[in-house]
Amino acid sequence: MSIEEPAPVLEARHISRNFGAVVALADASLRLHGNEVLGLVGDNGAGKSTLLKILSGIVSASSGDIFIDSQPVQLRRAQDALDAGIETVYQDLALVDTMSAYQNVYLGREELAKNPIARFFNLVDDRQMRERAREVLNSLAVKVPSINVAVKGMSGGQRQCLAIARALLWGRRIVILDEPTAALGVRETEQVLDVIRDLRKHDVSVIVVSHNMQQMMSIADRITVMRLGRTIATRTVSQTKVSEIVGLITGAIPGDEMTEESLPVQA
Ligand SMILES: Nc1ncnc2c1ncn2[C@@H]1O[C@H](COP(=O)(O)OP(=O)(O)OP(=O)(O)O)[C@@H](O)[C@H]1O
Ligand SMILES: [Mg+2]
Repeated sequence: MSIEEPAPVLEARHISRNFGAVVALADASLRLHGNEVLGLVGDNGAGKSTLLKILSGIVSASSGDIFIDSQPVQLRRAQDALDAGIETVYQDLALVDTMSAYQNVYLGREELAKNPIARFFNLVDDRQMRERAREVLNSLAVKVPSINVAVKGMSGGQRQCLAIARALLWGRRIVILDEPTAALGVRETEQVLDVIRDLRKHDVSVIVVSHNMQQMMSIADRITVMRLGRTIATRTVSQTKVSEIVGLITGAIPGDEMTEESLPVQA
């Protein structure tokens, strides 16, 4: 690694995963730097969600290595990823409908009983929880009707923002988003994209999957392209254009034979 490039906060090296005879991931590697939004793109079935699930501890890798701050980590279950500071926001599973916004922001604190911050919040009263939830939502400029209202009545965009705010509240350093705007309208999409852009200011790095290339170019610093279970190229957004990314996705432009990302890093 060159001296100018700081150590990545998260690195995946040569990850593979089979489901029976199906090779979901053949060889996937990526690096996520501090305060960075990394876009992950590829055609349907390229392996994006599988890679994100492996980084969230939901699916195990058949082979490969994962590093946080250059230290190897084993992500055997979702809790391991949370402990490593990785929060994943799912399109559907993000929130509990019948609970209020602030309750949702605190959801899962039981899982974190070992964490000193969680212990602290377990002891605080409802009022303090509300105040802190409001603070976090304000800091992200997330607009929800009321933090006391059940999220059932909230729009998809508000729900996504709330789920992202939760990651921030728990002090996660890495947020993973799989197609966060896929089901949203134009205005809602803009709200969620603004919140994603804002995460940088809070020292949070993001990996985001999207099929919308214009959107990717507007939020990501770098884009890693997957094809048929492999990460085949990584481009800096300011030095590429949509046509190049699309060409890499479809195969019209060949991938990098040996991308920097696919090379093992010398210790
Ligand atoms: N649990 C599973 N069992 C069997 N095959 C799976 C499983 N999960 C993923 N696959 C297969 O692995 C491949 C990669 O799937 P994955 O969901 O990671 O793709 P993706 O890039 O997220 O696609 P999309 O853009 O459509 O969401 C596909 O062929 C898929 O059918
Ligand atoms: Mg997917």
